[in-house]
Amino acid sequence: MATTLITGGTVVSATGRVLADVLVDGETIVAVLAPGSTALGHDLPRTVDRVIDATGKYVIPGGIDAHTHMQLPFGGTSASDTFETGTAAAAWGGTTSIVDFAVQTYGGKVQDGLAAWHELAAGNCHIDYGFHQIVGGVDDDSLAALPWLVDEGITSYKMFMAYPGVFYADDAQILKAMQVAADNGLLTMMHAENGPVIDVIAEQLVKQGKTSPYYHGIARVWQAEEEATHRAIMLSDITGAPLYVVHVSAKQAVAQLAAARDNGKNVFGETCPQYLYMSLEEQLGATSEEWGDFEGAKYVCSTPVRSRAEGHQDHMWQALRTNDLQMVSTDHCPFCMKDQKELGLGDFRKIPNGIGSVEHRMDLMYQGVVTGQITLERWVELTSTTPARMFGMYGRKGVIQPGADADIVIYDPNGHTSIGIDKKHHMNMDHAAWEGYEIDGKVDTVISRGRVLVEGDAFHGAKGHGKFLKRGLSQYLI
Ligand code: URP
Ligand code: ZN
Ligand code: ZN
Ligand code: ZN
Repeated sequence: MATTLITGGTVVSATGRVLADVLVDGETIVAVLAPGSTALGHDLPRTVDRVIDATGKYVIPGGIDAHTHMQLPFGGTSASDTFETGTAAAAWGGTTSIVDFAVQTYGGKVQDGLAAWHELAAGNCHIDYGFHQIVGGVDDDSLAALPWLVDEGITSYKMFMAYPGVFYADDAQILKAMQVAADNGLLTMMHAENGPVIDVIAEQLVKQGKTSPYYHGIARVWQAEEEATHRAIMLSDITGAPLYVVHVSAKQAVAQLAAARDNGKNVFGETCPQYLYMSLEEQLGATSEEWGDFEGAKYVCSTPVRSRAEGHQDHMWQALRTNDLQMVSTDHCPFCMKDQKELGLGDFRKIPNGIGSVEHRMDLMYQGVVTGQITLERWVELTSTTPARMFGMYGRKGVIQPGADADIVIYDPNGHTSIGIDKKHHMNMDHAAWEGYEIDGKVDTVISRGRVLVEGDAFHGAKGHGKFLKRGLSQYLI
């Protein structure tokens, strides 16, 4: 097995930073050594096959994006990144593991949905991948399948309080699923928006001729997110099932989570880069020469990007600092404008929901370190260590320590990253939702289980290197 020594870098964890060398043997980290470790009597570094100089750079555990949707069928089309293109883009951006969502819907079997996702991903991924299970049709069969999922390494599942007629679960269904989850250690993930209410408002807007993407944000009122978040918390409380609310965007929803956490409840929240940076006014309301007021379709996702005048974005950063929110994932769900987002020309309800960000999460969050919104350690915690703990991978992923998988990113704080379709962009999209963003930092080297995938501007990955991650139970709750 080849050995690699990463020398001279600052190793950053969720709890601190230290100048240290990292020794990798094969796929595994075997030592974190004081610089000049031969002084300690080790002769391992003298025998290494390869030395990577990380002087002046940060050495961090590889990013874990716990919310992606490669090839997700949605609104009559499918997310444009395959597992192959999406995991390559992730690697370029310093993410070395994803957790994607297998899909089950009404009338379908959980087992079949999971098998289909294994089929899509197996042999195609550049980085390691796990799955959550979307239970889009809660019935006796899908409830009976939940304990089975745990044995399959799928220890979390998602339900939807939105999208009536598609993935929607009502309160009775949610309650029943949470009862099973509580008994079996599964983590319940929730899309917390009151879908029936939103759909009525959306229909009324369209009838009034308000059909542009901007009205997607108007229809999906923050009250629908706050209310559903509160209801999910109460259902979690009744059943004793821990709750993880995905893609939180409303400051009022954060307040619900914060209050429950302050009461000792096992409830957790994730936000996404779009809710930290983007807004109703600037993005959903955007116009362009090419697309007119349909330009905003690029930013249609649910929950929606919200009003900057209302201050949601600043509040999300604050909640990340105060641990009222615990993680940042992308909810990567890219659709091209041509033939995909275009399906919603004349009716925002038909725009496939989602933004492509898997390549940019580490950079976009590092910019929060640059601007003083979060610390370097919190950056690592939000993007790698907590995702590993929350989703049953910690020890193997999310940390640089002996015995862990050698998933390592060398990040250059003196580098610079310009984001845009003409610059560096490896996601399978015909536009860049993050066009024009400038980051004061750069992914330098990306290592996945000992294999160097990215080295400066060179890509050495190969599809099939990424292996299925059979996850344990959430470790956040122990
Ligand atoms: O707009 C979004 N978020 N698309 C993906 C599906 C979901 O609800 O996470
Ligand atoms: Zn969702
Ligand atoms: Zn609090
Ligand atoms: Zn999602």
